[in-house]
Amino acid sequence: MLRIKVSNLKPGSRTGKDLYSYDSQLLLAQGTVITQEHLNSFARRGIEEIFIMDSRPKRRSGKDFSDTYVESLHVVKNFMMEAKLGKPMDGEEIRKTTDMLFLQVFDENDLFRQMRLMKDKDDYLFTHSVNVALLCILIGRWLKLGEGTIRELGTAGLLHDIGKVQIDGAILTKPGKLTDEEFEEMKKHTMLGYDLVVQSGSFSTEIANAALMHHERADGSGYPMGVKGYKTPFYAAVTAVADVYDAITSDRPYSTRSSPYTAAEVLWQESFGRLDPRIVKVFYDKITNFYVGNQVLLSNNEKGVVVYIDPSQPTRPIVMVDDNKFYNLATDRNIIIQEIID
Ligand SMILES: [Fe+2]
Ligand SMILES: [Fe+2]
Repeated sequence: MLRIKVSNLKPGSRTGKDLYSYDSQLLLAQGTVITQEHLNSFARRGIEEIFIMDSRPKRRSGKDFSDTYVESLHVVKNFMMEAKLGKPMDGEEIRKTTDMLFLQVFDENDLFRQMRLMKDKDDYLFTHSVNVALLCILIGRWLKLGEGTIRELGTAGLLHDIGKVQIDGAILTKPGKLTDEEFEEMKKHTMLGYDLVVQSGSFSTEIANAALMHHERADGSGYPMGVKGYKTPFYAAVTAVADVYDAITSDRPYSTRSSPYTAAEVLWQESFGRLDPRIVKVFYDKITNFYVGNQVLLSNNEKGVVVYIDPSQPTRPIVMVDDNKFYNLATDRNIIIQEIID
């Protein structure tokens, strides 16, 4: 960590410590990437020196995130194509990919930023599979599970939608809402995925169950079985949370992406009777930690910085759009955060 004069600071550095204003308001969380707008705000607030990280943290894998991501996409594409052609999946290669992703998930703040940058890199099904794997690994870390279990969870994430390779492409990429018959067809990806995972003979039953049951919901409204109560096996329950989060924050054939704030709100609502609240709670508490310091675009088209988060309503923070203008999204209910901008 370095102490540095703001006048010598360049955009792109990261804060080495949480940064507070003179009235003890958290301005930027540790690890936030400093932008030109932040620099302007420091000057306006009379902040002369701050702590920054002296370099980006070294990744344990020694590999860049984007390289790993692109390499993983490549593997996902390959095994999905092979599965589509009826060839058995190469379990070892898939596990190697999970291991690679596993080594990338240790700096969460950076992970969310990197995942945002990787959106639109490829077809939704491929990026979604990699993202869900990364999120499952992250949730596993946050739940303090053993390393072996976390890796298994990552593999469950990579394979959860494998059954979609056997669904008609026209349904998968349909831009509008599915008809009832099309939706019935789409639902089959769970059972088809289960069969593919089991037939490969390379993965645990828990991983096959994640493919089968990641759309089950405790109120019985899910599929394919409509299981009632929190009876979904653990890997499937984790995959379901990761799946919902990624689906909301990604552009899909039939909807444009919403911000992580909206995703967190949806997850929170879903935890009352649909998704497993023990998993949602940890995920929700942790992701909302990363919001302070984010630059955001509001639904009224104004840009600003998240300056304060009320722990009781973390998805509705206070946003500063210029020095004298603040929006409290907890009370300004008609304004939402459209997206995070870097
Ligand atoms: Fe699915
Ligand atoms: Fe999915």
